[in-house]
Amino acid sequence: MIGFSRTAEQLTCDGVPLSAIAAAEGTPVYVYGAATLRQRYRELDAAFGDYPHAIHYAFKANSTRAIIAELKALGSSVDAVSIWEVEVARKVGFLPRQIVFDGVGKSEAELERAVALDLKAINVESLGELARVEAIAARVGTVARVAIRINPDIDAKSHPHISTGLKVNKFGIPADDVRALFPTFGARPAVQLVALHVHVGSQITTMDPIRRAALRLAELAHDAQHAGVNLEYVDAGGGLGISYDGGPVPSFRDYASAFVEAIRTTRLPIVVEPGRSIVGPAGALVARVLDIKPRSATSEFVVIDAGMSELMRPALYDAFHLIEPIDARIGGLRQYEIVGPVCESGDVVGRDRMLTPLDVGDLVAICDAGAYGAVMASNYNRRPLPAEVLVDNGSWRVIRRRQTLDDLLALET
Ligand code: LLP
Repeated sequence: MIGFSRTAEQLTCDGVPLSAIAAAEGTPVYVYGAATLRQRYRELDAAFGDYPHAIHYAFKANSTRAIIAELKALGSSVDAVSIWEVEVARKVGFLPRQIVFDGVGKSEAELERAVALDLKAINVESLGELARVEAIAARVGTVARVAIRINPDIDAKSHPHISTGLKVNKFGIPADDVRALFPTFGARPAVQLVALHVHVGSQITTMDPIRRAALRLAELAHDAQHAGVNLEYVDAGGGLGISYDGGPVPSFRDYASAFVEAIRTTRLPIVVEPGRSIVGPAGALVARVLDIKPRSATSEFVVIDAGMSELMRPALYDAFHLIEPIDARIGGLRQYEIVGPVCESGDVVGRDRMLTPLDVGDLVAICDAGAYGAVMASNYNRRPLPAEVLVDNGSWRVIRRRQTLDDLLALET
């Protein structure tokens, strides 16, 4: 049994009791299962069958060194969203041609470095950015490889904060403007248009936006080819959702088929940039109950030692994460409002949860926290960033130690 599962009333990761990790490392602590990570990567990879494709794992979801090293070993490439993610990728041994560089606001310094590195593509988000990349490449006497991010005006039907494909969103260049650009590339010696890119949002749980994005991408790729642009691939972005609450989500196979079917006619390889769907289910945040107090006639507050400073998603997006007691006690279900320690009323980790009885000192697991968990943690309230642990082959190791007070003050005079 791989992943998080219950054996004899104990929650384990790949068979390792989470309570053992908490006892050794303290809480809050992120725990990741390497087997799940590998399984999900391989499943997505296999879903494309023999259609030419490349998985560019989105570092933004989780870029702890050991995690990205694990994905590198599986054959993954990289989607980076800042030059610092690019540099981290290089430290772990990824080659420049394995890295695509996204992001709606890249500084001049970031662009200069990206052009010098000769990445697989700089995904440009505006005409202005294209001009800036072109100017840098002309100045240094090179040809910059660019992809254009299309804003396809498609509703991802996800949370508004993580929907990116509508005209009103800040991302990409409208399709018509992109079309008008194609003929200009014949006379632009400092830039080579290598790909078109779409990413309509994250945590997409229905096939409709995925199919529409795939068709739009194929249609524009055809237009580019007809205009004489020699594209090398199309970049379908990331965005496939995971089931946080047990509800249905598209399978890797459905997701991959939608792109393969639409893109096949262009004969171009497909790049995807998955983050959450690879690493989300592979992680849990383990926390300890600090206090329990009355809330209403029917429910109690459970204060735990992890909150918006460790896992921002519930407070920021009202996101649901399953919360499970690690050593379940015998007894009927009780209604709990599970809250973090941070001094804000919005620091609620789980609303109105029905759980077996909890007591002060008990451990809980906040599930599916492998993506956009540790990477979005902060030092708010001077809380140290939590430790991260990787379980692999029946044993575990710390892959990022907990911050210390000295770490917290290290940059300050
Ligand atoms: N490619 C681009 C251009 C992106 O903007 C993103 C995510 C991805 C790929 C990866 O998407 P994924 O496969 O992980 O859905 N913090 C939010 C999610 C923000 C996603 C931002 N962009 C959350 O916690 O839900």
